[in-house]
Amino acid sequence: MIVPQQTFEDIEVQSLIEEIYTFWGHDFRNYAPSSLKRRIQSFIYAEGLSSISQLQKNILSDRLYFNKFLLGLTVNVTSMFRDPNFYLAFRNEVIPILRTYPFIRIWHAGCSSGEEVYSMAILLTEEGLYQRCRIYATDLNEQVLQTARRGIFSLKLMQNYTRLYIQAGGKKSFSEYYTAAYDHAIFSPYLRENIIFAQHNLAIDNSFNEFHVIICRNVLIYFNQTLQSRVHELFYHSLCSFGILGLGKQESISFTPHEHEYKELVKREKLYRRVN
Ligand SMILES: C[S@@+](CC[C@H](N)C(=O)[O-])C[C@H]1O[C@@H](n2cnc3c(N)ncnc32)[C@H](O)[C@@H]1O
Repeated sequence: MIVPQQTFEDIEVQSLIEEIYTFWGHDFRNYAPSSLKRRIQSFIYAEGLSSISQLQKNILSDRLYFNKFLLGLTVNVTSMFRDPNFYLAFRNEVIPILRTYPFIRIWHAGCSSGEEVYSMAILLTEEGLYQRCRIYATDLNEQVLQTARRGIFSLKLMQNYTRLYIQAGGKKSFSEYYTAAYDHAIFSPYLRENIIFAQHNLAIDNSFNEFHVIICRNVLIYFNQTLQSRVHELFYHSLCSFGILGLGKQESISFTPHEHEYKELVKREKLYRRVN
């Protein structure tokens, strides 16, 4: 068997990640190494730095610089009604289940700047369930959470979001949910009345409630198998019996510790239901 050789750069990346964990308590040790390496290289290039050791010196001596690096290290790309068929399936298959509950707790793990959470709040409002819901929206990164709490997004994005909203089965005119001011769309404050935005790190933190629905989309793809298993363990123990788990298009529960304790609710859209 040929064992792949570690390059000098791989060793430097590993040492940087260890230092970050020891110094700042952020644990990236079980992230997929190739994506991590690419993000570090791009950050070094964008900042005009000469080496990983120069980067290491900067981030260990300056909290603000570390926060900037953190934003560069994680992929925060998101959108409202991303993969609209997911929301359509949620509307058609999950909403009828949720209607039978008197109170609904939903956890959006890795919510980034909140677009998927506002999308869910809109969907639940249209289905007459929002008043019965409490949505916990968490991310590792405090900076993206600040954007999420404000609920103000670029007006330029609204044309595309309107198209996705319609594809997702939206029932109204999308512009009813925001006020346009200069180049921004300010989302109606009632949409975040039942949302709690908070920092939570899937790599180190534990469960904080029991949920009827957990949505974690496009987050696990950046983790290695060990961390994916940890997070699936966490989700399994945070879901109530018959709770719903929603993953991203490229994610699945196959080969995870509790795969046999879920059934597929909508296979194509990665919607699962805990069965025991
Ligand atoms: C690509 S975005 C996905 C956003 C949204 N879920 C979506 O599908 O559009 C990935 C998010 O996961 C967050 N993230 C990465 N590692 C995390 C961790 N260990 N704990 C919590 N969130 C994490 C990142 O900060 C980023 O906001």
